[in-house]
Amino acid sequence: MKIAKNIKELNIYSGTNQVIGFVPTMGSLHEGHFLLVKEAILETSLTVVSIFVNPTQFNDSNDLKNYPRNIENDLFRLNLILREKDIVFIPDEKEIYPKPDTRTYNFGHLDKIMEGRNRPGHFNGVGQVVSKLFQIVKPSYAFFGEKDLQQLAVVRKLVQMLKIPIIIIGIPIVREADGLAMSSRNQLLGKNERAEVPKIFKALTEATRLKGINTVDEVRYKTIKEINKSQLLFVEYFEIVDEINLLPIKNWDINTGIFGCIAVKVGKIRLIDNIRF
Ligand code: PAJ
Repeated sequence: MKIAKNIKELNIYSGTNQVIGFVPTMGSLHEGHFLLVKEAILETSLTVVSIFVNPTQFNDSNDLKNYPRNIENDLFRLNLILREKDIVFIPDEKEIYPKPDTRTYNFGHLDKIMEGRNRPGHFNGVGQVVSKLFQIVKPSYAFFGEKDLQQLAVVRKLVQMLKIPIIIIGIPIVREADGLAMSSRNQLLGKNERAEVPKIFKALTEATRLKGINTVDEVRYKTIKEINKSQLLFVEYFEIVDEINLLPIKNWDINTGIFGCIAVKVGKIRLIDNIRF
């Protein structure tokens, strides 16, 4: 694999006439990221993986400061997966933001619900960095995880609004053996916290079982109550939403897919997850 530290190097390595598959990340890579990378390799002739911890999407400066960074390990593991011609793009902040980015997007209701409501400005920052990276990398396909279901919807809306000719591919959630959705933030959990967090996926799985038995409101209430029984877990939101608009549903009888989306506070860490009903 090649390592490009700036746009000039990226352009030299990527050349022209390639079908580029792009996987944007913030590093501290795990099997969830690697599934995206493997899909990109399968579908395209050149894969570009970016590693950039984007300051504009952090609404909490402590979260940005504490965000795990493991660049040596990331490069080591990517080198085992990527082909000779593939590229890891590791820009510094000046490369992405030569001057402060003041663009704002109107994602409609999408950035006012769930993550949007709880992390003001977060999706605007995601829009800024993703649109910049798309401009720089010029991929035909870009790969995003369903782990961040709302981000996937925001990115789809972004390419539609800005008329960017890129196909967005969603990739299913990769989980630990005990059900915990893989996340770079998992390594920040203490030992006791790590032992408790599988309860989140257990409760989500139980929620899908209850679908045929209870109303939407009952399932919502029971799931929150079950997780909050743990001294270490606190549900920030659990919404049962339709697949198209990610808006809360009132009953099960609808024509689209249904997802349960959750955010849980575990001490200072915040984890998100979702499940298809
Ligand atoms: P990051 O959290 O590093 O995630 C990069 C990509 O990996 C995202 O598309 C995310 O949904 C996906 N991903 C994370 N955990 C996953 C899992 N367990 N299974 C499947 N996919 C998973 O998301 C971001 O970075 C940033 O917001 C970014 C898009 C790079 C913009 O800065």
